[in-house]
Amino acid sequence: MRILLLGSGGREHAFAWKLAQSPHCEKLFIAPGNAGTNSIGINLKFSVTDFEAVKNCCLKEKIDLLIVGPEEPLVKGIVDFLKSDELLNELLIIGPSKEGAHLEGSKTFSKQFMIRNNIPTASYQEFTNDNYDFGISFLQNHSLPIVLKADGLAAGKGVVICQNHEEAIVEFTEMLQNKKFGEASNKVVVEEFLTGIEVSVFVLTDGKNYVILPEAKDYKRIGEGDTGQNTGGMGAISPVPFADEVFMKKVVERIINPTIGGLQIENIDYSGFIFFGLIKVKDEPFVIEYNCRMGDPETEVVIPRLKNDLVKLLTAAAKQQLHKVSIEIDQRFAATVVAVSEGYPGNYNTGIPISGIEHNNISESICFHSGTIMKEDQILTNGGRVLCVTSFGNSINEAVTKSKIELQKISYDGMYYRNDIGYEFE
Ligand code: AMP
Ligand code: GLY
Repeated sequence: MRILLLGSGGREHAFAWKLAQSPHCEKLFIAPGNAGTNSIGINLKFSVTDFEAVKNCCLKEKIDLLIVGPEEPLVKGIVDFLKSDELLNELLIIGPSKEGAHLEGSKTFSKQFMIRNNIPTASYQEFTNDNYDFGISFLQNHSLPIVLKADGLAAGKGVVICQNHEEAIVEFTEMLQNKKFGEASNKVVVEEFLTGIEVSVFVLTDGKNYVILPEAKDYKRIGEGDTGQNTGGMGAISPVPFADEVFMKKVVERIINPTIGGLQIENIDYSGFIFFGLIKVKDEPFVIEYNCRMGDPETEVVIPRLKNDLVKLLTAAAKQQLHKVSIEIDQRFAATVVAVSEGYPGNYNTGIPISGIEHNNISESICFHSGTIMKEDQILTNGGRVLCVTSFGNSINEAVTKSKIELQKISYDGMYYRNDIGYEFE
């Protein structure tokens, strides 16, 4: 198969790494990719949202299978765009239609979908400028803390948890009236705060059948002990000890089945990943959010644990044949630790030389690149999250320790990573 993978993060490097292991992978292109994907396939220089360029590449390179990594092109409708083109009739695509991607792209859409399909989630109300005054009185009477969510995509910053009513009113006004997140905050969801522990569950579906991939837990805050600003993710572990059989049975019955059933009943075209951001409240699972793609850095622990041939698996999903597939999982623990640029998640410099990176494939660890670029034989930093090292172990602690040992061999100015990934499970 000739494959085109869209994206440039650690997630895409992990996909590329796994795809390239398949005997069915004839040629792999990654757009735009990073220095890591460059060593596995052929990086192409167009943006994931340049639909024309994607189409032209599919035609020119006779692509059989397209995998869309990030949410932005999905939410903007890349799948509908490509499927409406007769020249691309044969193209297999992993990624939902624009409507399906709205599960991530619109909080109001996803909340309404959950209500219609009886899927447990926090209670909520939605507001626009038209009912702003009602929103203020609603907030004044709301229990604390209050969760505010911009309806649309806001680069991972659209969720604000307010500890008092004044703060909530200021934030609500900023979002709705001062367009804090532009169009994305034209609508705002005000949501009940749920207390519990979070876990991410991943499903690959063909719209009718599905397979469950290993679950994971990511570490979103920049500082150790889960302190400081939110990031894209500073590390991840899999499996998650509290996501036991009893809990996962509830997740399947109350969340996954009604979600896949809902997509079918509502005729929503979906072949691709669904990332269920869940929270365990007492012993019960609730949906915090849906994403229409895999997580980053979760993919960097989920994919290494998957024993199946990824090309065969994705082909089955794109051909509505997932009922014929069974998933095989490596039972060991996997952990990934993300190294970031100084200043991240705020401002940071790029173009900083990375050294020691060539030595780290020696053990059981794998070094996945995120924000890196190759210039004249030198690997440079090219983003906030720079790279992540995934290791296996017989415990979370063992896996994390191996990753940290590997990371000590790598260096660049301002390199930072959390030392405490998986700390709750020691
Ligand atoms: P997101 O930016 O959508 O990934 O959400 C960021 C984080 O906000 C989630 O991972 C949760 O930790 C938190 N969060 C979102 N909604 C709620 C809620 N209803 N109750 C508690 N925490 C929440
Ligand atoms: N790590 C969280 C995400 O990919 O959204």
